[in-house]
Amino acid sequence: REEPLAATPPMGWNSWNRFGCAIDEDLIRRTADALVSSGMRDAGYDHVNIDDCWMAPERDAEGRLQADPDRFPSGIRALADYVHARGMRLGIYSSAGTRTCQGLPASLDHEEVDARTFAEWQVDYLKYDNCDNLGRPAFERYLRMGEALRATGRPIVYSICEWGENAPWEWGREVGGNLWRTTQDIKDTWDSVLGILDRQAGLEEHSGPGGWNDPDMLEVGNGGMSESEYRAHFSLWALLNAPLIAGNDVAEMSEATRRILLNRDLIAVNQDWGGMQGRRVRDDGDQEVWAKPMSDGSVTIVLLNRGDAPSTVGVRPDETGLPLASGYRLRDLWTGEETRTGTLVEAEVPVHDVVVYRIWPTE
Ligand code: GLA
Repeated sequence: REEPLAATPPMGWNSWNRFGCAIDEDLIRRTADALVSSGMRDAGYDHVNIDDCWMAPERDAEGRLQADPDRFPSGIRALADYVHARGMRLGIYSSAGTRTCQGLPASLDHEEVDARTFAEWQVDYLKYDNCDNLGRPAFERYLRMGEALRATGRPIVYSICEWGENAPWEWGREVGGNLWRTTQDIKDTWDSVLGILDRQAGLEEHSGPGGWNDPDMLEVGNGGMSESEYRAHFSLWALLNAPLIAGNDVAEMSEATRRILLNRDLIAVNQDWGGMQGRRVRDDGDQEVWAKPMSDGSVTIVLLNRGDAPSTVGVRPDETGLPLASGYRLRDLWTGEETRTGTLVEAEVPVHDVVVYRIWPTE
C-alpha cells in the first residue's frame, strides 16, 4: 500500500532560489546526478523540482502547456523518466493565474487540461503560484487545481504557493494541499530568515502529516549568509517541519554546505513521524528558544542568538514540554557530543548562530 502523500515534510531541490529563469534540461539532469552522488537523495532529498520558466511562451495547438523548445528540447516526460530512473520524483510549476510570475502561460481556467498533462508526463509534485490571479478568491482557484489533480488518479504532491495572503493554513488541506507557503519569498539574507521565522509562531496547530506549513525553500549555500547563519536557518527550518527543499547549486556545493544539508540528526528531527511543529518557548529579545516535541518522548530545542554579540542562552527542560525528571541526557545535533544535565539547559551561542540539543529525560 502507498503511504499517504507527504506523510512527512517533502524534501528535495528546487531551481528557483539559485537559478531563477536560467534553467534548462541539462541543469535538471546535472542536479539529479549530484543529488545522488552527494548522498542527498539517500538522506531523503528525493524531489527534483523545476520552478518557473520551464514553459514555452504559448500553449500548443491543442491548448496544452509545452516545454520551452530551446531549453527543454527533450520535453518534461523525458526528464521525469531520467529522475525516476535514479529513484527520485519530478516536480513542476504553474500559477493559479493567467500568467506565471515571469509572464509565461499558467493554469487559471486551464486546470483540468494542465493537471492531465502533468499526470501524462508522470510528474509527481506541483508548485502552484499566485501571480496574475485576476483578484479571484484564492480558495476557489486552489480548489479547482486540487480537484483537477485528484481527478487524474496520479498521486501528485500539491504545493500551494499563495504567499500566506489569505491564511492558507486554514484551508490548504480542504483544497487538497500538502503544503502551503506562509509568507512572501525568502531572500538569501539573515534578516529574511528572521522575518519569516517570526511569522511562523502561532501557526503550529495547522501543520502536520499530509499538510505542512511552508516557510519557503532553503537558501543554504547560495552565498548571502555566513556559515553560522546557514546553520541556524537549516536548524530552524528542520524544527518547524518545513519542507526541506534545497535551493543551491548541488553540483558545485562546498563541503560546508554539504555538511549542513546532510545533517542526519536534524533531518530526523524534521522527518519525525509525529509531525509536531516546533514552537517558540522563550523570547528574551535577541535570545530565543524553540522546541519541538518528538514522537519518542524526547524534545529537540534550538537555542538561537539573533544578536551581534555571543550570548548565553538557556531554558529549563520543563519549559520545553519535557516531563520533570531527575536528570536529562542531551545530544548536541551539530557536534554529536552527549552530555547530561539536571535542571537547566544552557549554552554559549555565537553571533547569528544556534546550538541544537535533542533531550531525553533519564530515569
Ligand atoms: C513567486 C514564488 C517564488 C518563485 C517565483 C517564480 O515569487 O513565490 O517561489 O516560484 O514566483 O517566478
